[in-house]
Amino acid sequence: MTTTQAQEYLKELAGWQLVEGKKIAKEFKFPRYLDGMAFAQRVGELAEREGHHPNIHVFYKKVRIEIWTHKIDGLTESDFILAAKIDDLTPWPPSPSPPSPLPSEGEGRQRGEGVGERSCWPGVYAHYRAFLPPIADEHIVTLLEGNTPLVRARRLEERFSLPCELYLKCEGANPTGSFKDRGMTVAISQAKQAGAKAVICASTGNTAASAAAYAARAGMRAFVVVPEGQIALGKLAGSMIYGAHVIQIQGNFDRALEIVRQLAERYPVTLVNSVNPHRLEGQKTAAFEICDVLGRAPDYHALPVGNAGNITAYWKGYCEYFSHKKIAKRPVMLGFQAEGAAPIVLGHPVENPRTVATAIKIGNPASWSGALQARDESGGLIATVSDAQILEAYKLLAQLEGIFCEPASAASVAGVLMLAQQRYFGSDSLVVCTLTGHGLKDPDTALATTSAKAITVRAELNEVLRAMGLELTP
Ligand code: F0G
Repeated sequence: MTTTQAQEYLKELAGWQLVEGKKIAKEFKFPRYLDGMAFAQRVGELAEREGHHPNIHVFYKKVRIEIWTHKIDGLTESDFILAAKIDDLTPWPPSPSPPSPLPSEGEGRQRGEGVGERSCWPGVYAHYRAFLPPIADEHIVTLLEGNTPLVRARRLEERFSLPCELYLKCEGANPTGSFKDRGMTVAISQAKQAGAKAVICASTGNTAASAAAYAARAGMRAFVVVPEGQIALGKLAGSMIYGAHVIQIQGNFDRALEIVRQLAERYPVTLVNSVNPHRLEGQKTAAFEICDVLGRAPDYHALPVGNAGNITAYWKGYCEYFSHKKIAKRPVMLGFQAEGAAPIVLGHPVENPRTVATAIKIGNPASWSGALQARDESGGLIATVSDAQILEAYKLLAQLEGIFCEPASAASVAGVLMLAQQRYFGSDSLVVCTLTGHGLKDPDTALATTSAKAITVRAELNEVLRAMGLELTP
């Protein structure tokens, strides 16, 4: 690569410098000597994984990394990709900005770029600000969503002799219990900046609860329109307690969406369904987090598909990280619809969608074309899973991995298990499934799905022992 080409690449990388035309180098500063040591170790581990050999110099509270090459043609693109990955290893806020002062005794550390929240994690808007629509600090409405666990599913891997590593992105750990919070922080912050006083959405439940919570925090009114009797109890309870105006229609989600779209065109109320582009902007941050944690993109990414906003958002996220050279390749996208609600797989809308997974009981997805684009550009697929497969995966996740997600979320794992049986995955591939919402949202399905019964006994030690299947020893 020529010096000019190298300079072009460096424009994307803050703080890295070209040295003698054949090395790139950067110094990272740390508040404590040990932080620098720990960072150096993580760079070493990353380099081993990637087959690179950077020089790592540890000084007092400072680490200097030099990436260089013996190759005749000098630096290559992979050297710059490694530099970007090293940047991702640094704690937020990234070097070279000076470390924030340590809190004085009795005082928590204040972070969040002026957002005013006290936490090590500032929420997705502040953390991924450079990739999101511009916003003034005072308009950010956040519950510190995001930074959700990416958990390895070793027991599932073993049970099904999977040839791949399987990770679960647990989006139920978001503040209102679903991935919707990522999009809602951006949509509601933007609505606040634009001076909106009220928001509206149609929902199978999770969008409603999230919109209700963020609107409450922003001091706005929320109107949520849901299909009567078809949303899980926890979602309805959330929407009510956050103070939304809950309107149930005698119709399905698709009809509710048509109605709110018309209302938002005619009245001063902001639509916060995923047809609002700010929602997808926020939701794409889940893809960023996965890459930041893994130090690469997964080989495959599986998701449940309902209104198809999320698969569209993830693909956007991966594409943006790819074009910023933060990842070297993008994953193959795998979407799963429930058999009775599979318009994209069938190629036409479904008038009366049916599935136990009420969150994805949708017959005419708004982001249909986005899902097709994600599928086709990534070389992936969108397939169906039956309710029985969904419920089986739902139970396995809880009983093998200790993860209680809602039925719709388990569609991603059901799909991956089905494809694994067909030997779809190459050996040593890395697969991520998004678990979109928390199982507590839908206690009715949990109780109906397990054959276990809670036993009642008298309040005596003996009785409890017997119920445990044990006898009192003399
Ligand atoms: N999983 C859960 C738990 C959901 O709530 C949703 C959508 C999806 C998956 C599908 O995501 O629509 O982006 O393809 N719930 C919406 C709602 C429709 O109103 O809460 P999608």
